[in-house]
Amino acid sequence: MRASWSSPWLFILAATGSAVGLGNIWRFPYVTGENGGGAFVLLYLFFVFFMGLPILFSEILIGKRAQKNPINAMKSVALESGAGQYWKFIGALGVLAGCLILSFYSVIAGWCLSYVYDYVTVENLATSIDEANQKLNYLTNSPITLIIWHTIFMFVTVVIVARGLKKGFELATKFLMPVLFATLLLLVAHAVIVGDFFSSIGYLFEPDFSRLTSKTILLAMGQAFFSLSIGMGAIMAYGSYLPAGISVGKCAFSIAVADTSVALLAGFAIFPIVFAYGLEPAQGPGLVFVTLNVGFSEMANGRFFGLVFFLLLTIAAWTSSISLIEPGIAWLSEVTEMSRKCASLVLGSIIWLVGLGSVFSFNLWSELKLVGMNFFEIVEFVSTSLILPFGGMMLVLFVGWFMKKNIVVSELNLKIDSAFTSIFFILMKFLAPFGVLIVLLENSGIHKLVF
Ligand code: TRP
Repeated sequence: MRASWSSPWLFILAATGSAVGLGNIWRFPYVTGENGGGAFVLLYLFFVFFMGLPILFSEILIGKRAQKNPINAMKSVALESGAGQYWKFIGALGVLAGCLILSFYSVIAGWCLSYVYDYVTVENLATSIDEANQKLNYLTNSPITLIIWHTIFMFVTVVIVARGLKKGFELATKFLMPVLFATLLLLVAHAVIVGDFFSSIGYLFEPDFSRLTSKTILLAMGQAFFSLSIGMGAIMAYGSYLPAGISVGKCAFSIAVADTSVALLAGFAIFPIVFAYGLEPAQGPGLVFVTLNVGFSEMANGRFFGLVFFLLLTIAAWTSSISLIEPGIAWLSEVTEMSRKCASLVLGSIIWLVGLGSVFSFNLWSELKLVGMNFFEIVEFVSTSLILPFGGMMLVLFVGWFMKKNIVVSELNLKIDSAFTSIFFILMKFLAPFGVLIVLLENSGIHKLVF
């Protein structure tokens, strides 16, 4: 008997844990900052609900229907609907993307761990942007330090998934998610009290459309996909442990709302402090690792709040990492003789090894470039800008065009001839896949060859 979630709430919570990660707390605020605030946020919301949500539906639907790892799930659901078994390659591509993403995700999560350690042990916090920059450079220039934190992060991830659904990621979800929400709310409340809340509202919600370019549109879509954890079968793998009789629609909607709320709340934990201390909101990737540090060092009890902030980032990263490796482990342990523990160890070690490439991209190999990108940038680009949108597009195309309509309708509790169902299918068949296709072509640069 395959295990299943103890309650649908735990599934929603675990999927939210997957969705809420470095993407929400580290990347969303700085990308928003760099791309004109409110206008970017509006675009992001559009992509989450009109393109992300259909893909999220598709993933949960396929996983739940098949009750198998993403590769076999794609195969069996395709065969059930009379489509070719080659759809399994979409599952395989997803497993690969998950491993690639985790390889660099773990390195960045390692930075967060090292900041947690710093806030506990270091005597003097960085008080200027220069000092904070130096601190980050010192960390990224040391391969050994990066490897130590990357190893610790991967080790904990592997231990959690090796223990399986009930004793592993369900248990981790039960403990970590309440801590995550509590720390986030504490930080938002604190930032609102000591920081400049009103400037932040203006910054995040007043759209300045003059700053939108086609690049911004691509970024907003990529951010929406990455943040929702869609396109590679992570949510499909979680959905495969769902028992019958659960509403896929409600689950998907709750996950999208929760993920978006956390991204916005992260903005309210960060920007009030940035504005109150006269810091630069459009700092780029250094926003939380450099800028925010200076804010923490200047405020009362900053050491405590800084520690809580980086703890929040680390926890969010852990609950996401589990979902990045789970498709691969489910597949290895379901199709080979390997036990779950053994599969976790093997796959975890391979991912760890690939992660070393990202570690060295910040120091020893920083000059080693292919088409202008170092190893870390290549792995990030191929997995998140190419494979994720491609996988997402194929998944909605599959559900919209190839899966038997009555299966989709019954799994989503829709009425077969209602207006809502027609709109839903238009979204699944046309808007979502072709929207993604345009972005994909733009990302890959192929259109430049064609037009
Ligand atoms: N969504 C996570 C974040 O925002 C990252 C993540 C976890 C992810 N699992 C995923 C991204 C699957 C894409 C696909 O940080």
